Amino acid sequence: MSASHNRVEVLHGVNLDMLGSRPSEHYGELTLEELEVQIKRYARELDLEARFFDTNHEGEFVEHVHRLHGMVDAIVLNPGAWTHYSWAIRDALEIADLPAVEVHLSDVGSREEWRRHSVLEGVVIGAFSGKGPEGYRDALAMLKEAIEGG
Ligand code: DQA
Repeated sequence: MSASHNRVEVLHGVNLDMLGSRPSEHYGELTLEELEVQIKRYARELDLEARFFDTNHEGEFVEHVHRLHGMVDAIVLNPGAWTHYSWAIRDALEIADLPAVEVHLSDVGSREEWRRHSVLEGVVIGAFSGKGPEGYRDALAMLKEAIEGG
């Protein structure tokens, strides 16, 4: 893969900056900074370059996604609770028109009813949940295949 075709933007949404202080039975013990070190390692193993962005502000998240077209090759995102209701983020992803994969540290399918629905369905090529940090590795591997495939 050419060096200019390996840029993956990793986006963390609302409350992800509080990892390390959130219920460890769902989210583990890592802080966001530690998680990003781990994701960078996974990316390097796959010959991808990971860049990171996190915010607690939905408009900032949307505007950041707007800037990604042509700047990166793929997106990994964990929008936190926005996953379940932010149609604005769904629309922004559609506008970005890049392969994207959704990740959740916890198993959203076996928690509260409201977490079971993702508004991103249909604009992401895949979703991983309940695998902790390893979900990010799976997401990166899926995106590498998508990038290489065309
Ligand atoms: C989360 C799951 C969401 O339901 C929750 O609101 C989060 C984190 C996860 O990584 O498991 O903030 O996206």
